[in-house]
Amino acid sequence: MSVVGRAKTPQLCGHGFRKARPLLGSFEDACRSSMSQIAQRDPTRQFLRARGCAAPRLAGVNVRTHRRPDGRVVVFPIAPWTPDQANWAVRFARNKGVSVITHISADRVDELRILADAGFTSARREVKVEVDLDKALATTGGARLPPGVAAISAADADVDRLRVLDDALRDDIPGTRGWRSTPEEFAGETFSAPAFNPATYLVAVQEGTGEYIGLVRIWMNRSGPRIGMFGVLRAHRRRGIALALLARCLFAARDIGHRTATSEYDETNEASGGVFRRLGAHQTGSTLEFASGPQAA
Ligand SMILES: CC(C)(COP(=O)(O)OP(=O)(O)OC[C@H]1O[C@@H](n2cnc3c(N)ncnc32)[C@H](O)[C@@H]1OP(=O)(O)O)[C@@H](O)C(=O)NCCC(=O)NCCS
Repeated sequence: MSVVGRAKTPQLCGHGFRKARPLLGSFEDACRSSMSQIAQRDPTRQFLRARGCAAPRLAGVNVRTHRRPDGRVVVFPIAPWTPDQANWAVRFARNKGVSVITHISADRVDELRILADAGFTSARREVKVEVDLDKALATTGGARLPPGVAAISAADADVDRLRVLDDALRDDIPGTRGWRSTPEEFAGETFSAPAFNPATYLVAVQEGTGEYIGLVRIWMNRSGPRIGMFGVLRAHRRRGIALALLARCLFAARDIGHRTATSEYDETNEASGGVFRRLGAHQTGSTLEFASGPQAA
């Protein structure tokens, strides 16, 4: 088992994120400028970005790690899980007193067994979906925002208010409760090209008060559009806001030339499932989140 030292850790972003958080790999999409160039060459980084993870770095035993803004540590090996790596990750969780999580396709049975044998437990399952843009827009393309609600691009939004909205919405999303980004993390993970596109990251604004009440973001990854997150504050749900913002973003993705978008959602999230059903999404697989440490107990 090789140990990868800090000196070999690539410096992936120039937003101070690394310095502020000296340990580890990540969640909801990256410090993109330098990250994205590396991601093109590195399937693991592409996977982490697809999982919403950013700025991964190697720690210890050829396992990429990242401390997310909710305090959990994402771990991901650079090759299929081995017993040594899984045992290392469990020891890491125990010794540091942190919750360590990893995401793994539900069909990777051998690796699931390795993780379970090491002491990981299954925390939740996500449904992977693909949305056909023509099909989705044929049924939802006419969705409109309710009166008194406007949409602006994240590029025109107040970044700090957007960050606070993002934190609040994540409290309602299984698997991301307690997420509190620093301004540096949020800016770094939001605006770096090419995944950020101002036409596919929209914010719903309550006219009059100017309150930010919802958002939809589709990352324009090189592998294709990925619906990263949609959320609306509780007081404003079931008014068609998410669907209207999604329709606009999907139109923008199609205008660029894409035919499909991918995403995933927690299987217990009925609202997410309902939105994806409205988009005519079909399941392409499922992913398990395995956890070890205090919050996994
Ligand atoms: C998911 C969420 C964004 C939906 O926002 P919204 O603005 O209320 O959604 P819309 O009003 O546009 O709903 C569109 C359709 O989605 C489906 N839907 C929305 N909420 C639903 C729910 N709670 N249960 C089942 N279906 C639901 C319905 O088909 C709905 O159409 P209808 O109201 O005509 O029946 C919102 O519930 C939310 O913010 N949840 C917490 C954050 C989250 O889980 N985000 C998804 C993970 S990234």
